[in-house]
Amino acid sequence: MRFLVLGALLFAIPPPAGQVADAHRDAVDRRVDSLLSLMTLEEKVGQLVQVAVEGEESPLAEEYARQVRLGEVGSFLNSIGASRNREIQTIAMTRSRLKIPLLFGYDVIHGFRTVFPIPLAQASTWEPDLIEKAARVAAIEASSAGIHWTFAPMVDIARDPRWGRIAEGSGEDPLLGSLMAAARVRGFQGDTLARRDALLACPKHYAAYGAAEGGRDYNTVDISERTLREIYLPPFEAAVRAGAGTLMCSFNEIAGVPSSGNRHLLTDILRGEWKFDGFVVSDWGSIGEMQQHGVAGTLAEAAALGITAGVDMDMESGAYHAHLADLVRAGKVPLPLLDESVRRVLRAKFRLGLFDDPYRGGDPAREKTLLLAPEHRNLAREVARHSMVLLKNSNVLPLRKEQNVALIGPLADNRSDLLGCWSGNGREEDAVAVREGIERMLGHPVPYARGCLVAPLDRRGFAEAVEVARKADVAVLVVGETALMSGEAASRSTLGLPGVQEELVRAVAATGVPVVVVLINGRPLAVGGFEESAGAILEAWAPGVEGGNAIVDILYGANPSGRLPVTFPRSVGQIPLYYNHKNTGRPFQAEERFTSKYIDGENSPQYPFGFGLSYTTFDYSSVSLSSPLLREGGSLTVSVSVRNSGKVAGEEVVQLYIQDPVASVTRPVAELKAFRKVSLRPGEEQRVDFVLTPEMLAMFDLSMHRVVEPGAFIASVGGNARDLQSAAFQFESAGPYRLDRR
Ligand code: GLC
Repeated sequence: MRFLVLGALLFAIPPPAGQVADAHRDAVDRRVDSLLSLMTLEEKVGQLVQVAVEGEESPLAEEYARQVRLGEVGSFLNSIGASRNREIQTIAMTRSRLKIPLLFGYDVIHGFRTVFPIPLAQASTWEPDLIEKAARVAAIEASSAGIHWTFAPMVDIARDPRWGRIAEGSGEDPLLGSLMAAARVRGFQGDTLARRDALLACPKHYAAYGAAEGGRDYNTVDISERTLREIYLPPFEAAVRAGAGTLMCSFNEIAGVPSSGNRHLLTDILRGEWKFDGFVVSDWGSIGEMQQHGVAGTLAEAAALGITAGVDMDMESGAYHAHLADLVRAGKVPLPLLDESVRRVLRAKFRLGLFDDPYRGGDPAREKTLLLAPEHRNLAREVARHSMVLLKNSNVLPLRKEQNVALIGPLADNRSDLLGCWSGNGREEDAVAVREGIERMLGHPVPYARGCLVAPLDRRGFAEAVEVARKADVAVLVVGETALMSGEAASRSTLGLPGVQEELVRAVAATGVPVVVVLINGRPLAVGGFEESAGAILEAWAPGVEGGNAIVDILYGANPSGRLPVTFPRSVGQIPLYYNHKNTGRPFQAEERFTSKYIDGENSPQYPFGFGLSYTTFDYSSVSLSSPLLREGGSLTVSVSVRNSGKVAGEEVVQLYIQDPVASVTRPVAELKAFRKVSLRPGEEQRVDFVLTPEMLAMFDLSMHRVVEPGAFIASVGGNARDLQSAAFQFESAGPYRLDRR
């Protein structure tokens, strides 16, 4: 008996996690291979085809049902609803030959039915853990509605606010972008894809989509390999290392090669260097668009380019459906290469548990209780509060309940635009407008005037707005952009407030009543047209379903703690303008003519990267280093003390930047390397330590090797990329310290 018990105990002792993962992976691969051996060529191609079907109406159109029965489609996008997707899945599970479950994908970008603030707002929290929770809620809601896969997180670095899709990402910095990318992948996928509320993540758009020339969506990208690797790729690598199960390529080319046909990106780097073992999906029609790019003469040629480069699944272009089988038969696409793509898709479906339960997660009863659950709304309100950035405050905020407040502006009593771009299954009626929020909090109606619309050049509402303001102690103006003025295909050539909104702010301010401007927008705006007229400016972004309540929370005392994840320029003429720029041979000097500058205005940003005010103030001690030397395998600690020198509790984001002033290639004047959000009571002081390692100083040298070069470095600490205190140290090494073995 003892032996038996011992044996049982041995089995009971779990093997090391790595072995479990390997064993599980091997088991899945065996199941994949045995299924693959049964599949016809057409059925294999079918797994690489994704088709868009809209909405929730039933039954599924016959043309799609037929494709499912014949095994000619492996995934649908945009089909939502537990009942509807269960009905479609049942066709696959009962009427197709091999009963391979379908994968249902949808753009769950910042929430499913409970719409959170847009991702750029979420990045403004500088709280990856909080953002992971938001993604988890999105996954719980979406999976209950029969969705398995989200086309998110969007992790494109964006340095150009003219680009509308800056709204969907985490701003201009590779570190902040990487931490947010990994947090969202963890939130969406949970601790295992087999959970019924796991959502397969899909970092996008690989790669450098945000570097479009002129900020014009879909436009040409022409950047160096070094810029690609140091600025645009890190968030994708972070997402892959966080376990992302899929990835989406981008519409754009990079230096002449469209991403949908870029083997260097999709195979050499993604699979060769990062060991990504998920599958790649194209972006809507991007494979077929290689004809427009001019690198494919026919749809068949585009199909061959895509599959050969490493795009496993074709979203909506029809290229794979129409031509892959013939290309394989003609020997133009090797069958083993096609088989490998099919394996990747099947592996994802096995990992999601779809072969064990094709209807996993999708449950009308769960859907009914989970969507917009009170705890989800509460989290959305918390994230919105933490995302708001106080840009100016001349003792106007916080407001007091006894003040007579006038509420003005085209977005003050608006719901739909608070949801922002890519609002998923969000509905206008779900959102709380600012007017509703303020009247509910105060317990009485508030004088209100719309004043104007967002875009039309119509000033007829000004008089009413001015009249309402005159009778008030303070005027709150809610202005900005509509939801469709940012997001996809929404590039702007100007950055001011659209329409006559700036005039409205000035007209109201001319009454002499203090003005609070609340911005609802999806990109950095140039505020010069109204900044002087405003006593306070609160960047609220597109704050989601609880936006109205969160804005009122902040206006009436919740201390704002958001910090800018992207630089705010003074004018569109300054673009591109970002904090981690190069020094150039003639760095800006206002009084020196022959230096890098514009001669017709201020050259500094309106608000720098990392900036944000509080209802309190924070004082920093000088920076101290545990040692003036850093060596291979060693570390040094950068320390600073931060004190809350004001009268209310608040949160400060303490930021650590590094500069390498002399190297074998030019280096940015600053690079964010760490940050910590600290809460301080009035008068409280806290020491903040950052542990610096050589790996944090890495760069790509002339040979594109990832190295740390010996020499002097500067560590700087502060509350934004401008207001910093510094200390110098040396990295000591016999020669360049090589970090990669490519
Ligand atoms: C769009 C977007 C992409 C999205 C996809 C599916 O064109 O570029 O971000 O996930 O199509 O809707």
